[in-house]
Amino acid sequence: MLKTHSIALMIAAAGLLGACTGTQAMNSSDGSDHSSSANKSTEPIIPGYTVGSKSIERAPITLGELEELKLSLLMSDEDIKYLRMSRDVLEPHVEELVGVWYGFVGGNEHLLKYFSNNAGEPDMDYLGRVRERFEQWVLDTAQAEYDQEWLDYQFEIGRRHHRVGKNTTDHADAIDHINFRHLSALTIPVTTTLRPFLERSDHTAEEVDKMHAAWVKSVLMQTILWSYPYVHEGDF
Ligand code: HEM
Repeated sequence: MLKTHSIALMIAAAGLLGACTGTQAMNSSDGSDHSSSANKSTEPIIPGYTVGSKSIERAPITLGELEELKLSLLMSDEDIKYLRMSRDVLEPHVEELVGVWYGFVGGNEHLLKYFSNNAGEPDMDYLGRVRERFEQWVLDTAQAEYDQEWLDYQFEIGRRHHRVGKNTTDHADAIDHINFRHLSALTIPVTTTLRPFLERSDHTAEEVDKMHAAWVKSVLMQTILWSYPYVHEGDF
């Protein structure tokens, strides 16, 4: 238990390395983005963050079907508004926030194993590289720009959790497949630990509630999209 605890601390702190690697430089010089726009060049600024690149396959569902999924999730334009409101709140704290999530993964051996090498040791390089993309994902989730590039990349993220694509982006030597049950389950710790960060603002309690509710819907929606490679062909 002590070992797990100290590994969690080490992993959460190691995330600060990510802060020095330029994650916050973002991918557009004017800071405006959808950051995918700058990733149309051959080399993404964040290693492995390939939104909009030619290497990304077309999504197997249409934007219209995404709209239907939003209806099923009761995700409205108001949720989009509150997701976007959260961006300015979260951006200054994004490294710390992802550090909290990394601490959660590091504190749970059944999750940490997916980042560990054949010898059972956490692969700090792998954790560090994924972390940069994770920080970008926070901003993209808050941006809520549901265009074709975003949709296509959702299915890429799904593949990267599944044996069809895990480890390849970072040339990692870890377990090659994450059991799907943990993906949707992590919606809860991810959004629960997010809430105190949303409270670090001048927004009213009602606005914080609405930002939080929108995040729960968005994270659940994304894990549903990521389930694609796990579901029998034709059943998604
Ligand atoms: C709500 C649930 C989850 C969220 C929001 C999430 C988010 C992400 C993001 C944003 C990335 C990087 C995507 C990219 O390459 O651009 C990623 C990759 C990864 N995540 Fe998750 N994740 C979730 C669940 C899990 C679970 C349960 C595990 C198990 C420990 C996990 C382990 C990993 C690993 C190992 C990678 C790197 C995959 C690779 O080799 O490319 N994730 N995740």
